[in-house]
Amino acid sequence: VRAVDIIIKKRDHGELNREEIKFFVRGLTTGRIPDYQVSAWAMAVLLNGMTPRETTDLTLAMAQSGEVLDMMDFVKGVVVDKHSTGGVGDKTSLVVLPVAAACGLPAGKMSGRGLGFSGGTLDKLESIPGCRVDLTTDEFIRQLVETGIVLSGQSRDLAPADGKLYALRDVTGTVQSMPLIASSIMSKKIAAGAQAVVLDVKVGRGAFMQTLEDARALAQIMVSIGELAGRSVVTVLSDMNQPLGAAVGNSLEVREALDALHGGGPADFREHCLQICAHMLTLGEAAPDLATGRRMAEQAVASGAAFEKFRALVRAQGGDVSYVDEPEKFPQAKFIETLAAERSGYLSRVDARVIGEASVALGAGRAKKGDPVDHAVGLVVHCKVGEAVERGQPLITVHASDAAKQAGVRESVRAAFGWSETPVPPLPLFYE
Ligand code: URA
Repeated sequence: VRAVDIIIKKRDHGELNREEIKFFVRGLTTGRIPDYQVSAWAMAVLLNGMTPRETTDLTLAMAQSGEVLDMMDFVKGVVVDKHSTGGVGDKTSLVVLPVAAACGLPAGKMSGRGLGFSGGTLDKLESIPGCRVDLTTDEFIRQLVETGIVLSGQSRDLAPADGKLYALRDVTGTVQSMPLIASSIMSKKIAAGAQAVVLDVKVGRGAFMQTLEDARALAQIMVSIGELAGRSVVTVLSDMNQPLGAAVGNSLEVREALDALHGGGPADFREHCLQICAHMLTLGEAAPDLATGRRMAEQAVASGAAFEKFRALVRAQGGDVSYVDEPEKFPQAKFIETLAAERSGYLSRVDARVIGEASVALGAGRAKKGDPVDHAVGLVVHCKVGEAVERGQPLITVHASDAAKQAGVRESVRAAFGWSETPVPPLPLFYE
C-alpha cells in the first residue's frame, strides 16, 4: 500500500477499507507519512466525506494509535468525561470538571487546543503560568487517583494520531468535517478510558456544524461509536450562534471560568454549565435525576468545593495557584478598547464566527502549526441577542497586543452585531 493511493482513492470518492485506514493512521502517527500527504488526505475526506463504517474504523484506529486506558482498573465510580465539538467562548470544561469532581465523580478529561476559529481548553489552561497539559499516561492516572480531577492533552501514549492530525487540520482548512470531528473527539474519549461521556454538540455560526440537521448527524455518529466502544454517551445540541458567556480568548476565559466557580460570571454561561453538570452527574450515577444533579452542582459551587477542585487541578499540574486566587495577576493586553453602540435598537445577531476569527487574528489562535498563542488577547462581549441596547452603551471590548492588530479587527467586530427596530427573542441555550 502507498499513502498516495489512499489519498487518490478518497479524492475519487472511494470507500477506504479498514486495512487502508489503519495503514494511514499508523503512518501519520509514526511520521512515515509526511504532513503534506496527511493534509491532502484530510482535504479529500473533508470534500468527499466518509461512511459511518469508515468513520468508526478511523476512530478506533486513532484511539489505538497509543494506549487505551481502562479506568475501572484504577478508580472506584464511573469516570465521566465531557467534550464540546468546538465553539467561541466555550470555557465550560474549566467549570464542569471541577464541579463533577467536587460531587465525587472521578473527572478525567483529554482536551484539545484551539482549532480554527474555536478556542481550546489546553491553550486556556496554559495561560496559568507553569500549568502543564502534556501529562504522561502514568501521570494522568496518578493524578486522577490522588486528586480526582485531571485535564490534559493527547500525549505520545494517548491518541497520538489525533494530536498530529488535529494540529494539521487547524491550519489547512480541514476542521469542518463530520468524520474528522467525530473521530477526533471519540478517539480521545476512548483512549482516556472514561466510561461515560457527555457530548456538547454546538450548532450555529460559531460552530463547525451550521444546521441542526448536521449537528444531529454528528451527535448520532458519535453516540454509535461510543456504544460500539462500550461507553455511555449523552449528547446535547447547544447554541453557538453567539459566543457563550462574555469572554473570548485564553486568560480572559480562565478569569470568567473562575468567576463562574465563585457563583458569578455571565448568566448564560452559568446556566449552560449547570445543565451540563446535571447530565454528567446523572450519567455518572452520582445523581438519580437531572434536577438532583443540578442541585448538587449548585451546592458544589456555593460551598466553594468546586473552586477548591480547580485549585487542586492547577496545583497538581504544576500551575501557579496564586493566579487562581488573585486573577488580577494575569497579564493584561497592552491595548484595551471598548466599542460602543452607534445606534439604539434590539440586537438580532452577535456573530460568534466573526468574533472567533477576530480572536484568532489578535493572536489567541494559530495561523501555522506550532505557532505560539498570546494568552492575554481576545474580546469581551457585553450584550446578547434580544437585548435592547441604547446608543453609546458598551458592545464589546477588544484586548490587543499591538495597535495594528487592534485596528485590523475593529470594523469586522463592529459588523458582528446585527440590529432590529422591533423586539427580538433571545437565543435558546439548548436545542435538544
Ligand atoms: N474537538 C476535538 O477534540 N476535535 C475536533 O475535531 C473538534 C472539537
